[in-house]
Amino acid sequence: MRALISRDLPAKALDTVRAVAEVSVWPHNRPPTAQELVEHAADADGILCLLTDRIDDALLSALPKLRIVSQMAVGVDNIDLQACANHGVAVGNTPGVLTDTTADLAVALLLATARRVCEGERFLRAGEWTTWSPMLLAGAEVHGATIGIVGMGRIGFEVARRAAGFKMRIVYTSRSPKPDAERLFGAERRSLSELLAESDFVSVHTPLSSETTGLIGAAELAAMKPSAILINTARGAVVSQRALYDALKNGRISAAGLDVFEREPIPMDDPLLTLPNVVMLPHIGSATVATRTRMAQIAADNLAAGLQGLPMPHPVALPVRMRAQ
Ligand code: DGY
Repeated sequence: MRALISRDLPAKALDTVRAVAEVSVWPHNRPPTAQELVEHAADADGILCLLTDRIDDALLSALPKLRIVSQMAVGVDNIDLQACANHGVAVGNTPGVLTDTTADLAVALLLATARRVCEGERFLRAGEWTTWSPMLLAGAEVHGATIGIVGMGRIGFEVARRAAGFKMRIVYTSRSPKPDAERLFGAERRSLSELLAESDFVSVHTPLSSETTGLIGAAELAAMKPSAILINTARGAVVSQRALYDALKNGRISAAGLDVFEREPIPMDDPLLTLPNVVMLPHIGSATVATRTRMAQIAADNLAAGLQGLPMPHPVALPVRMRAQ
């Protein structure tokens, strides 16, 4: 059995896969290109991949031996699940383990944008702090404000729990009502347009899919309060980045806290980088040592189980297989 691991991981996770397969680890601190992935995974029965690896029909066609794709992330938008189903490739991911960690970071971004934490730090380090003054770096109130949670899945739910702790009022969108969030945190379900109009903070927690790509575009940003703050720790493409730039630049909304971007890493000439009212992080929602270590281990456990023909502890449901034309 052969496996490719597309980035170096903690030794215990590597050993888990080595116990059942001959392992090769992509040696660079950058993602392999599509061609490099094909070359390095030739003859592999399984791949442990990251969200930076594109797993699509072309790759799967070039790797006919491949049976298992184990992603070290909960989001699987880089993986063409239909293609995996068609090629008979099973997919695993790492849900649950990063829920609290990512919710913590969403709240960190919310507080940082509302209270202008990064602006304040830049101001101080630049030596501009000459006196205390009444309205210096005055930001937005968090307690008592309304947060709109777009997508009340696992992470949205944990953001709601934290928001309730900050005495915020919570509204949310979801395909179905979430009685636990309503009972525990007093959350109220809304349509997206109602949520946008009511919220002081809008925090995005939907997976990226064809339905959610561009979910927050120019019209949605225009429907928000001019004082509102947008937080995105889900996937960049859920928000139209061009429309967001325009809305921030023209004061249509007040600020944004972003951990994810349409293109990652964000190009250094992206206009968002010119705005003072955006806090930007390099996709570190789940980046604590403990959580990333657990994610690596779950991904390794999924791969090892799949390679042995056992059920993966965390399988991703695949669409129905389509017949080849
Ligand atoms: C995920 O798991 O999908 C995150 O974006 C990375 O932790």
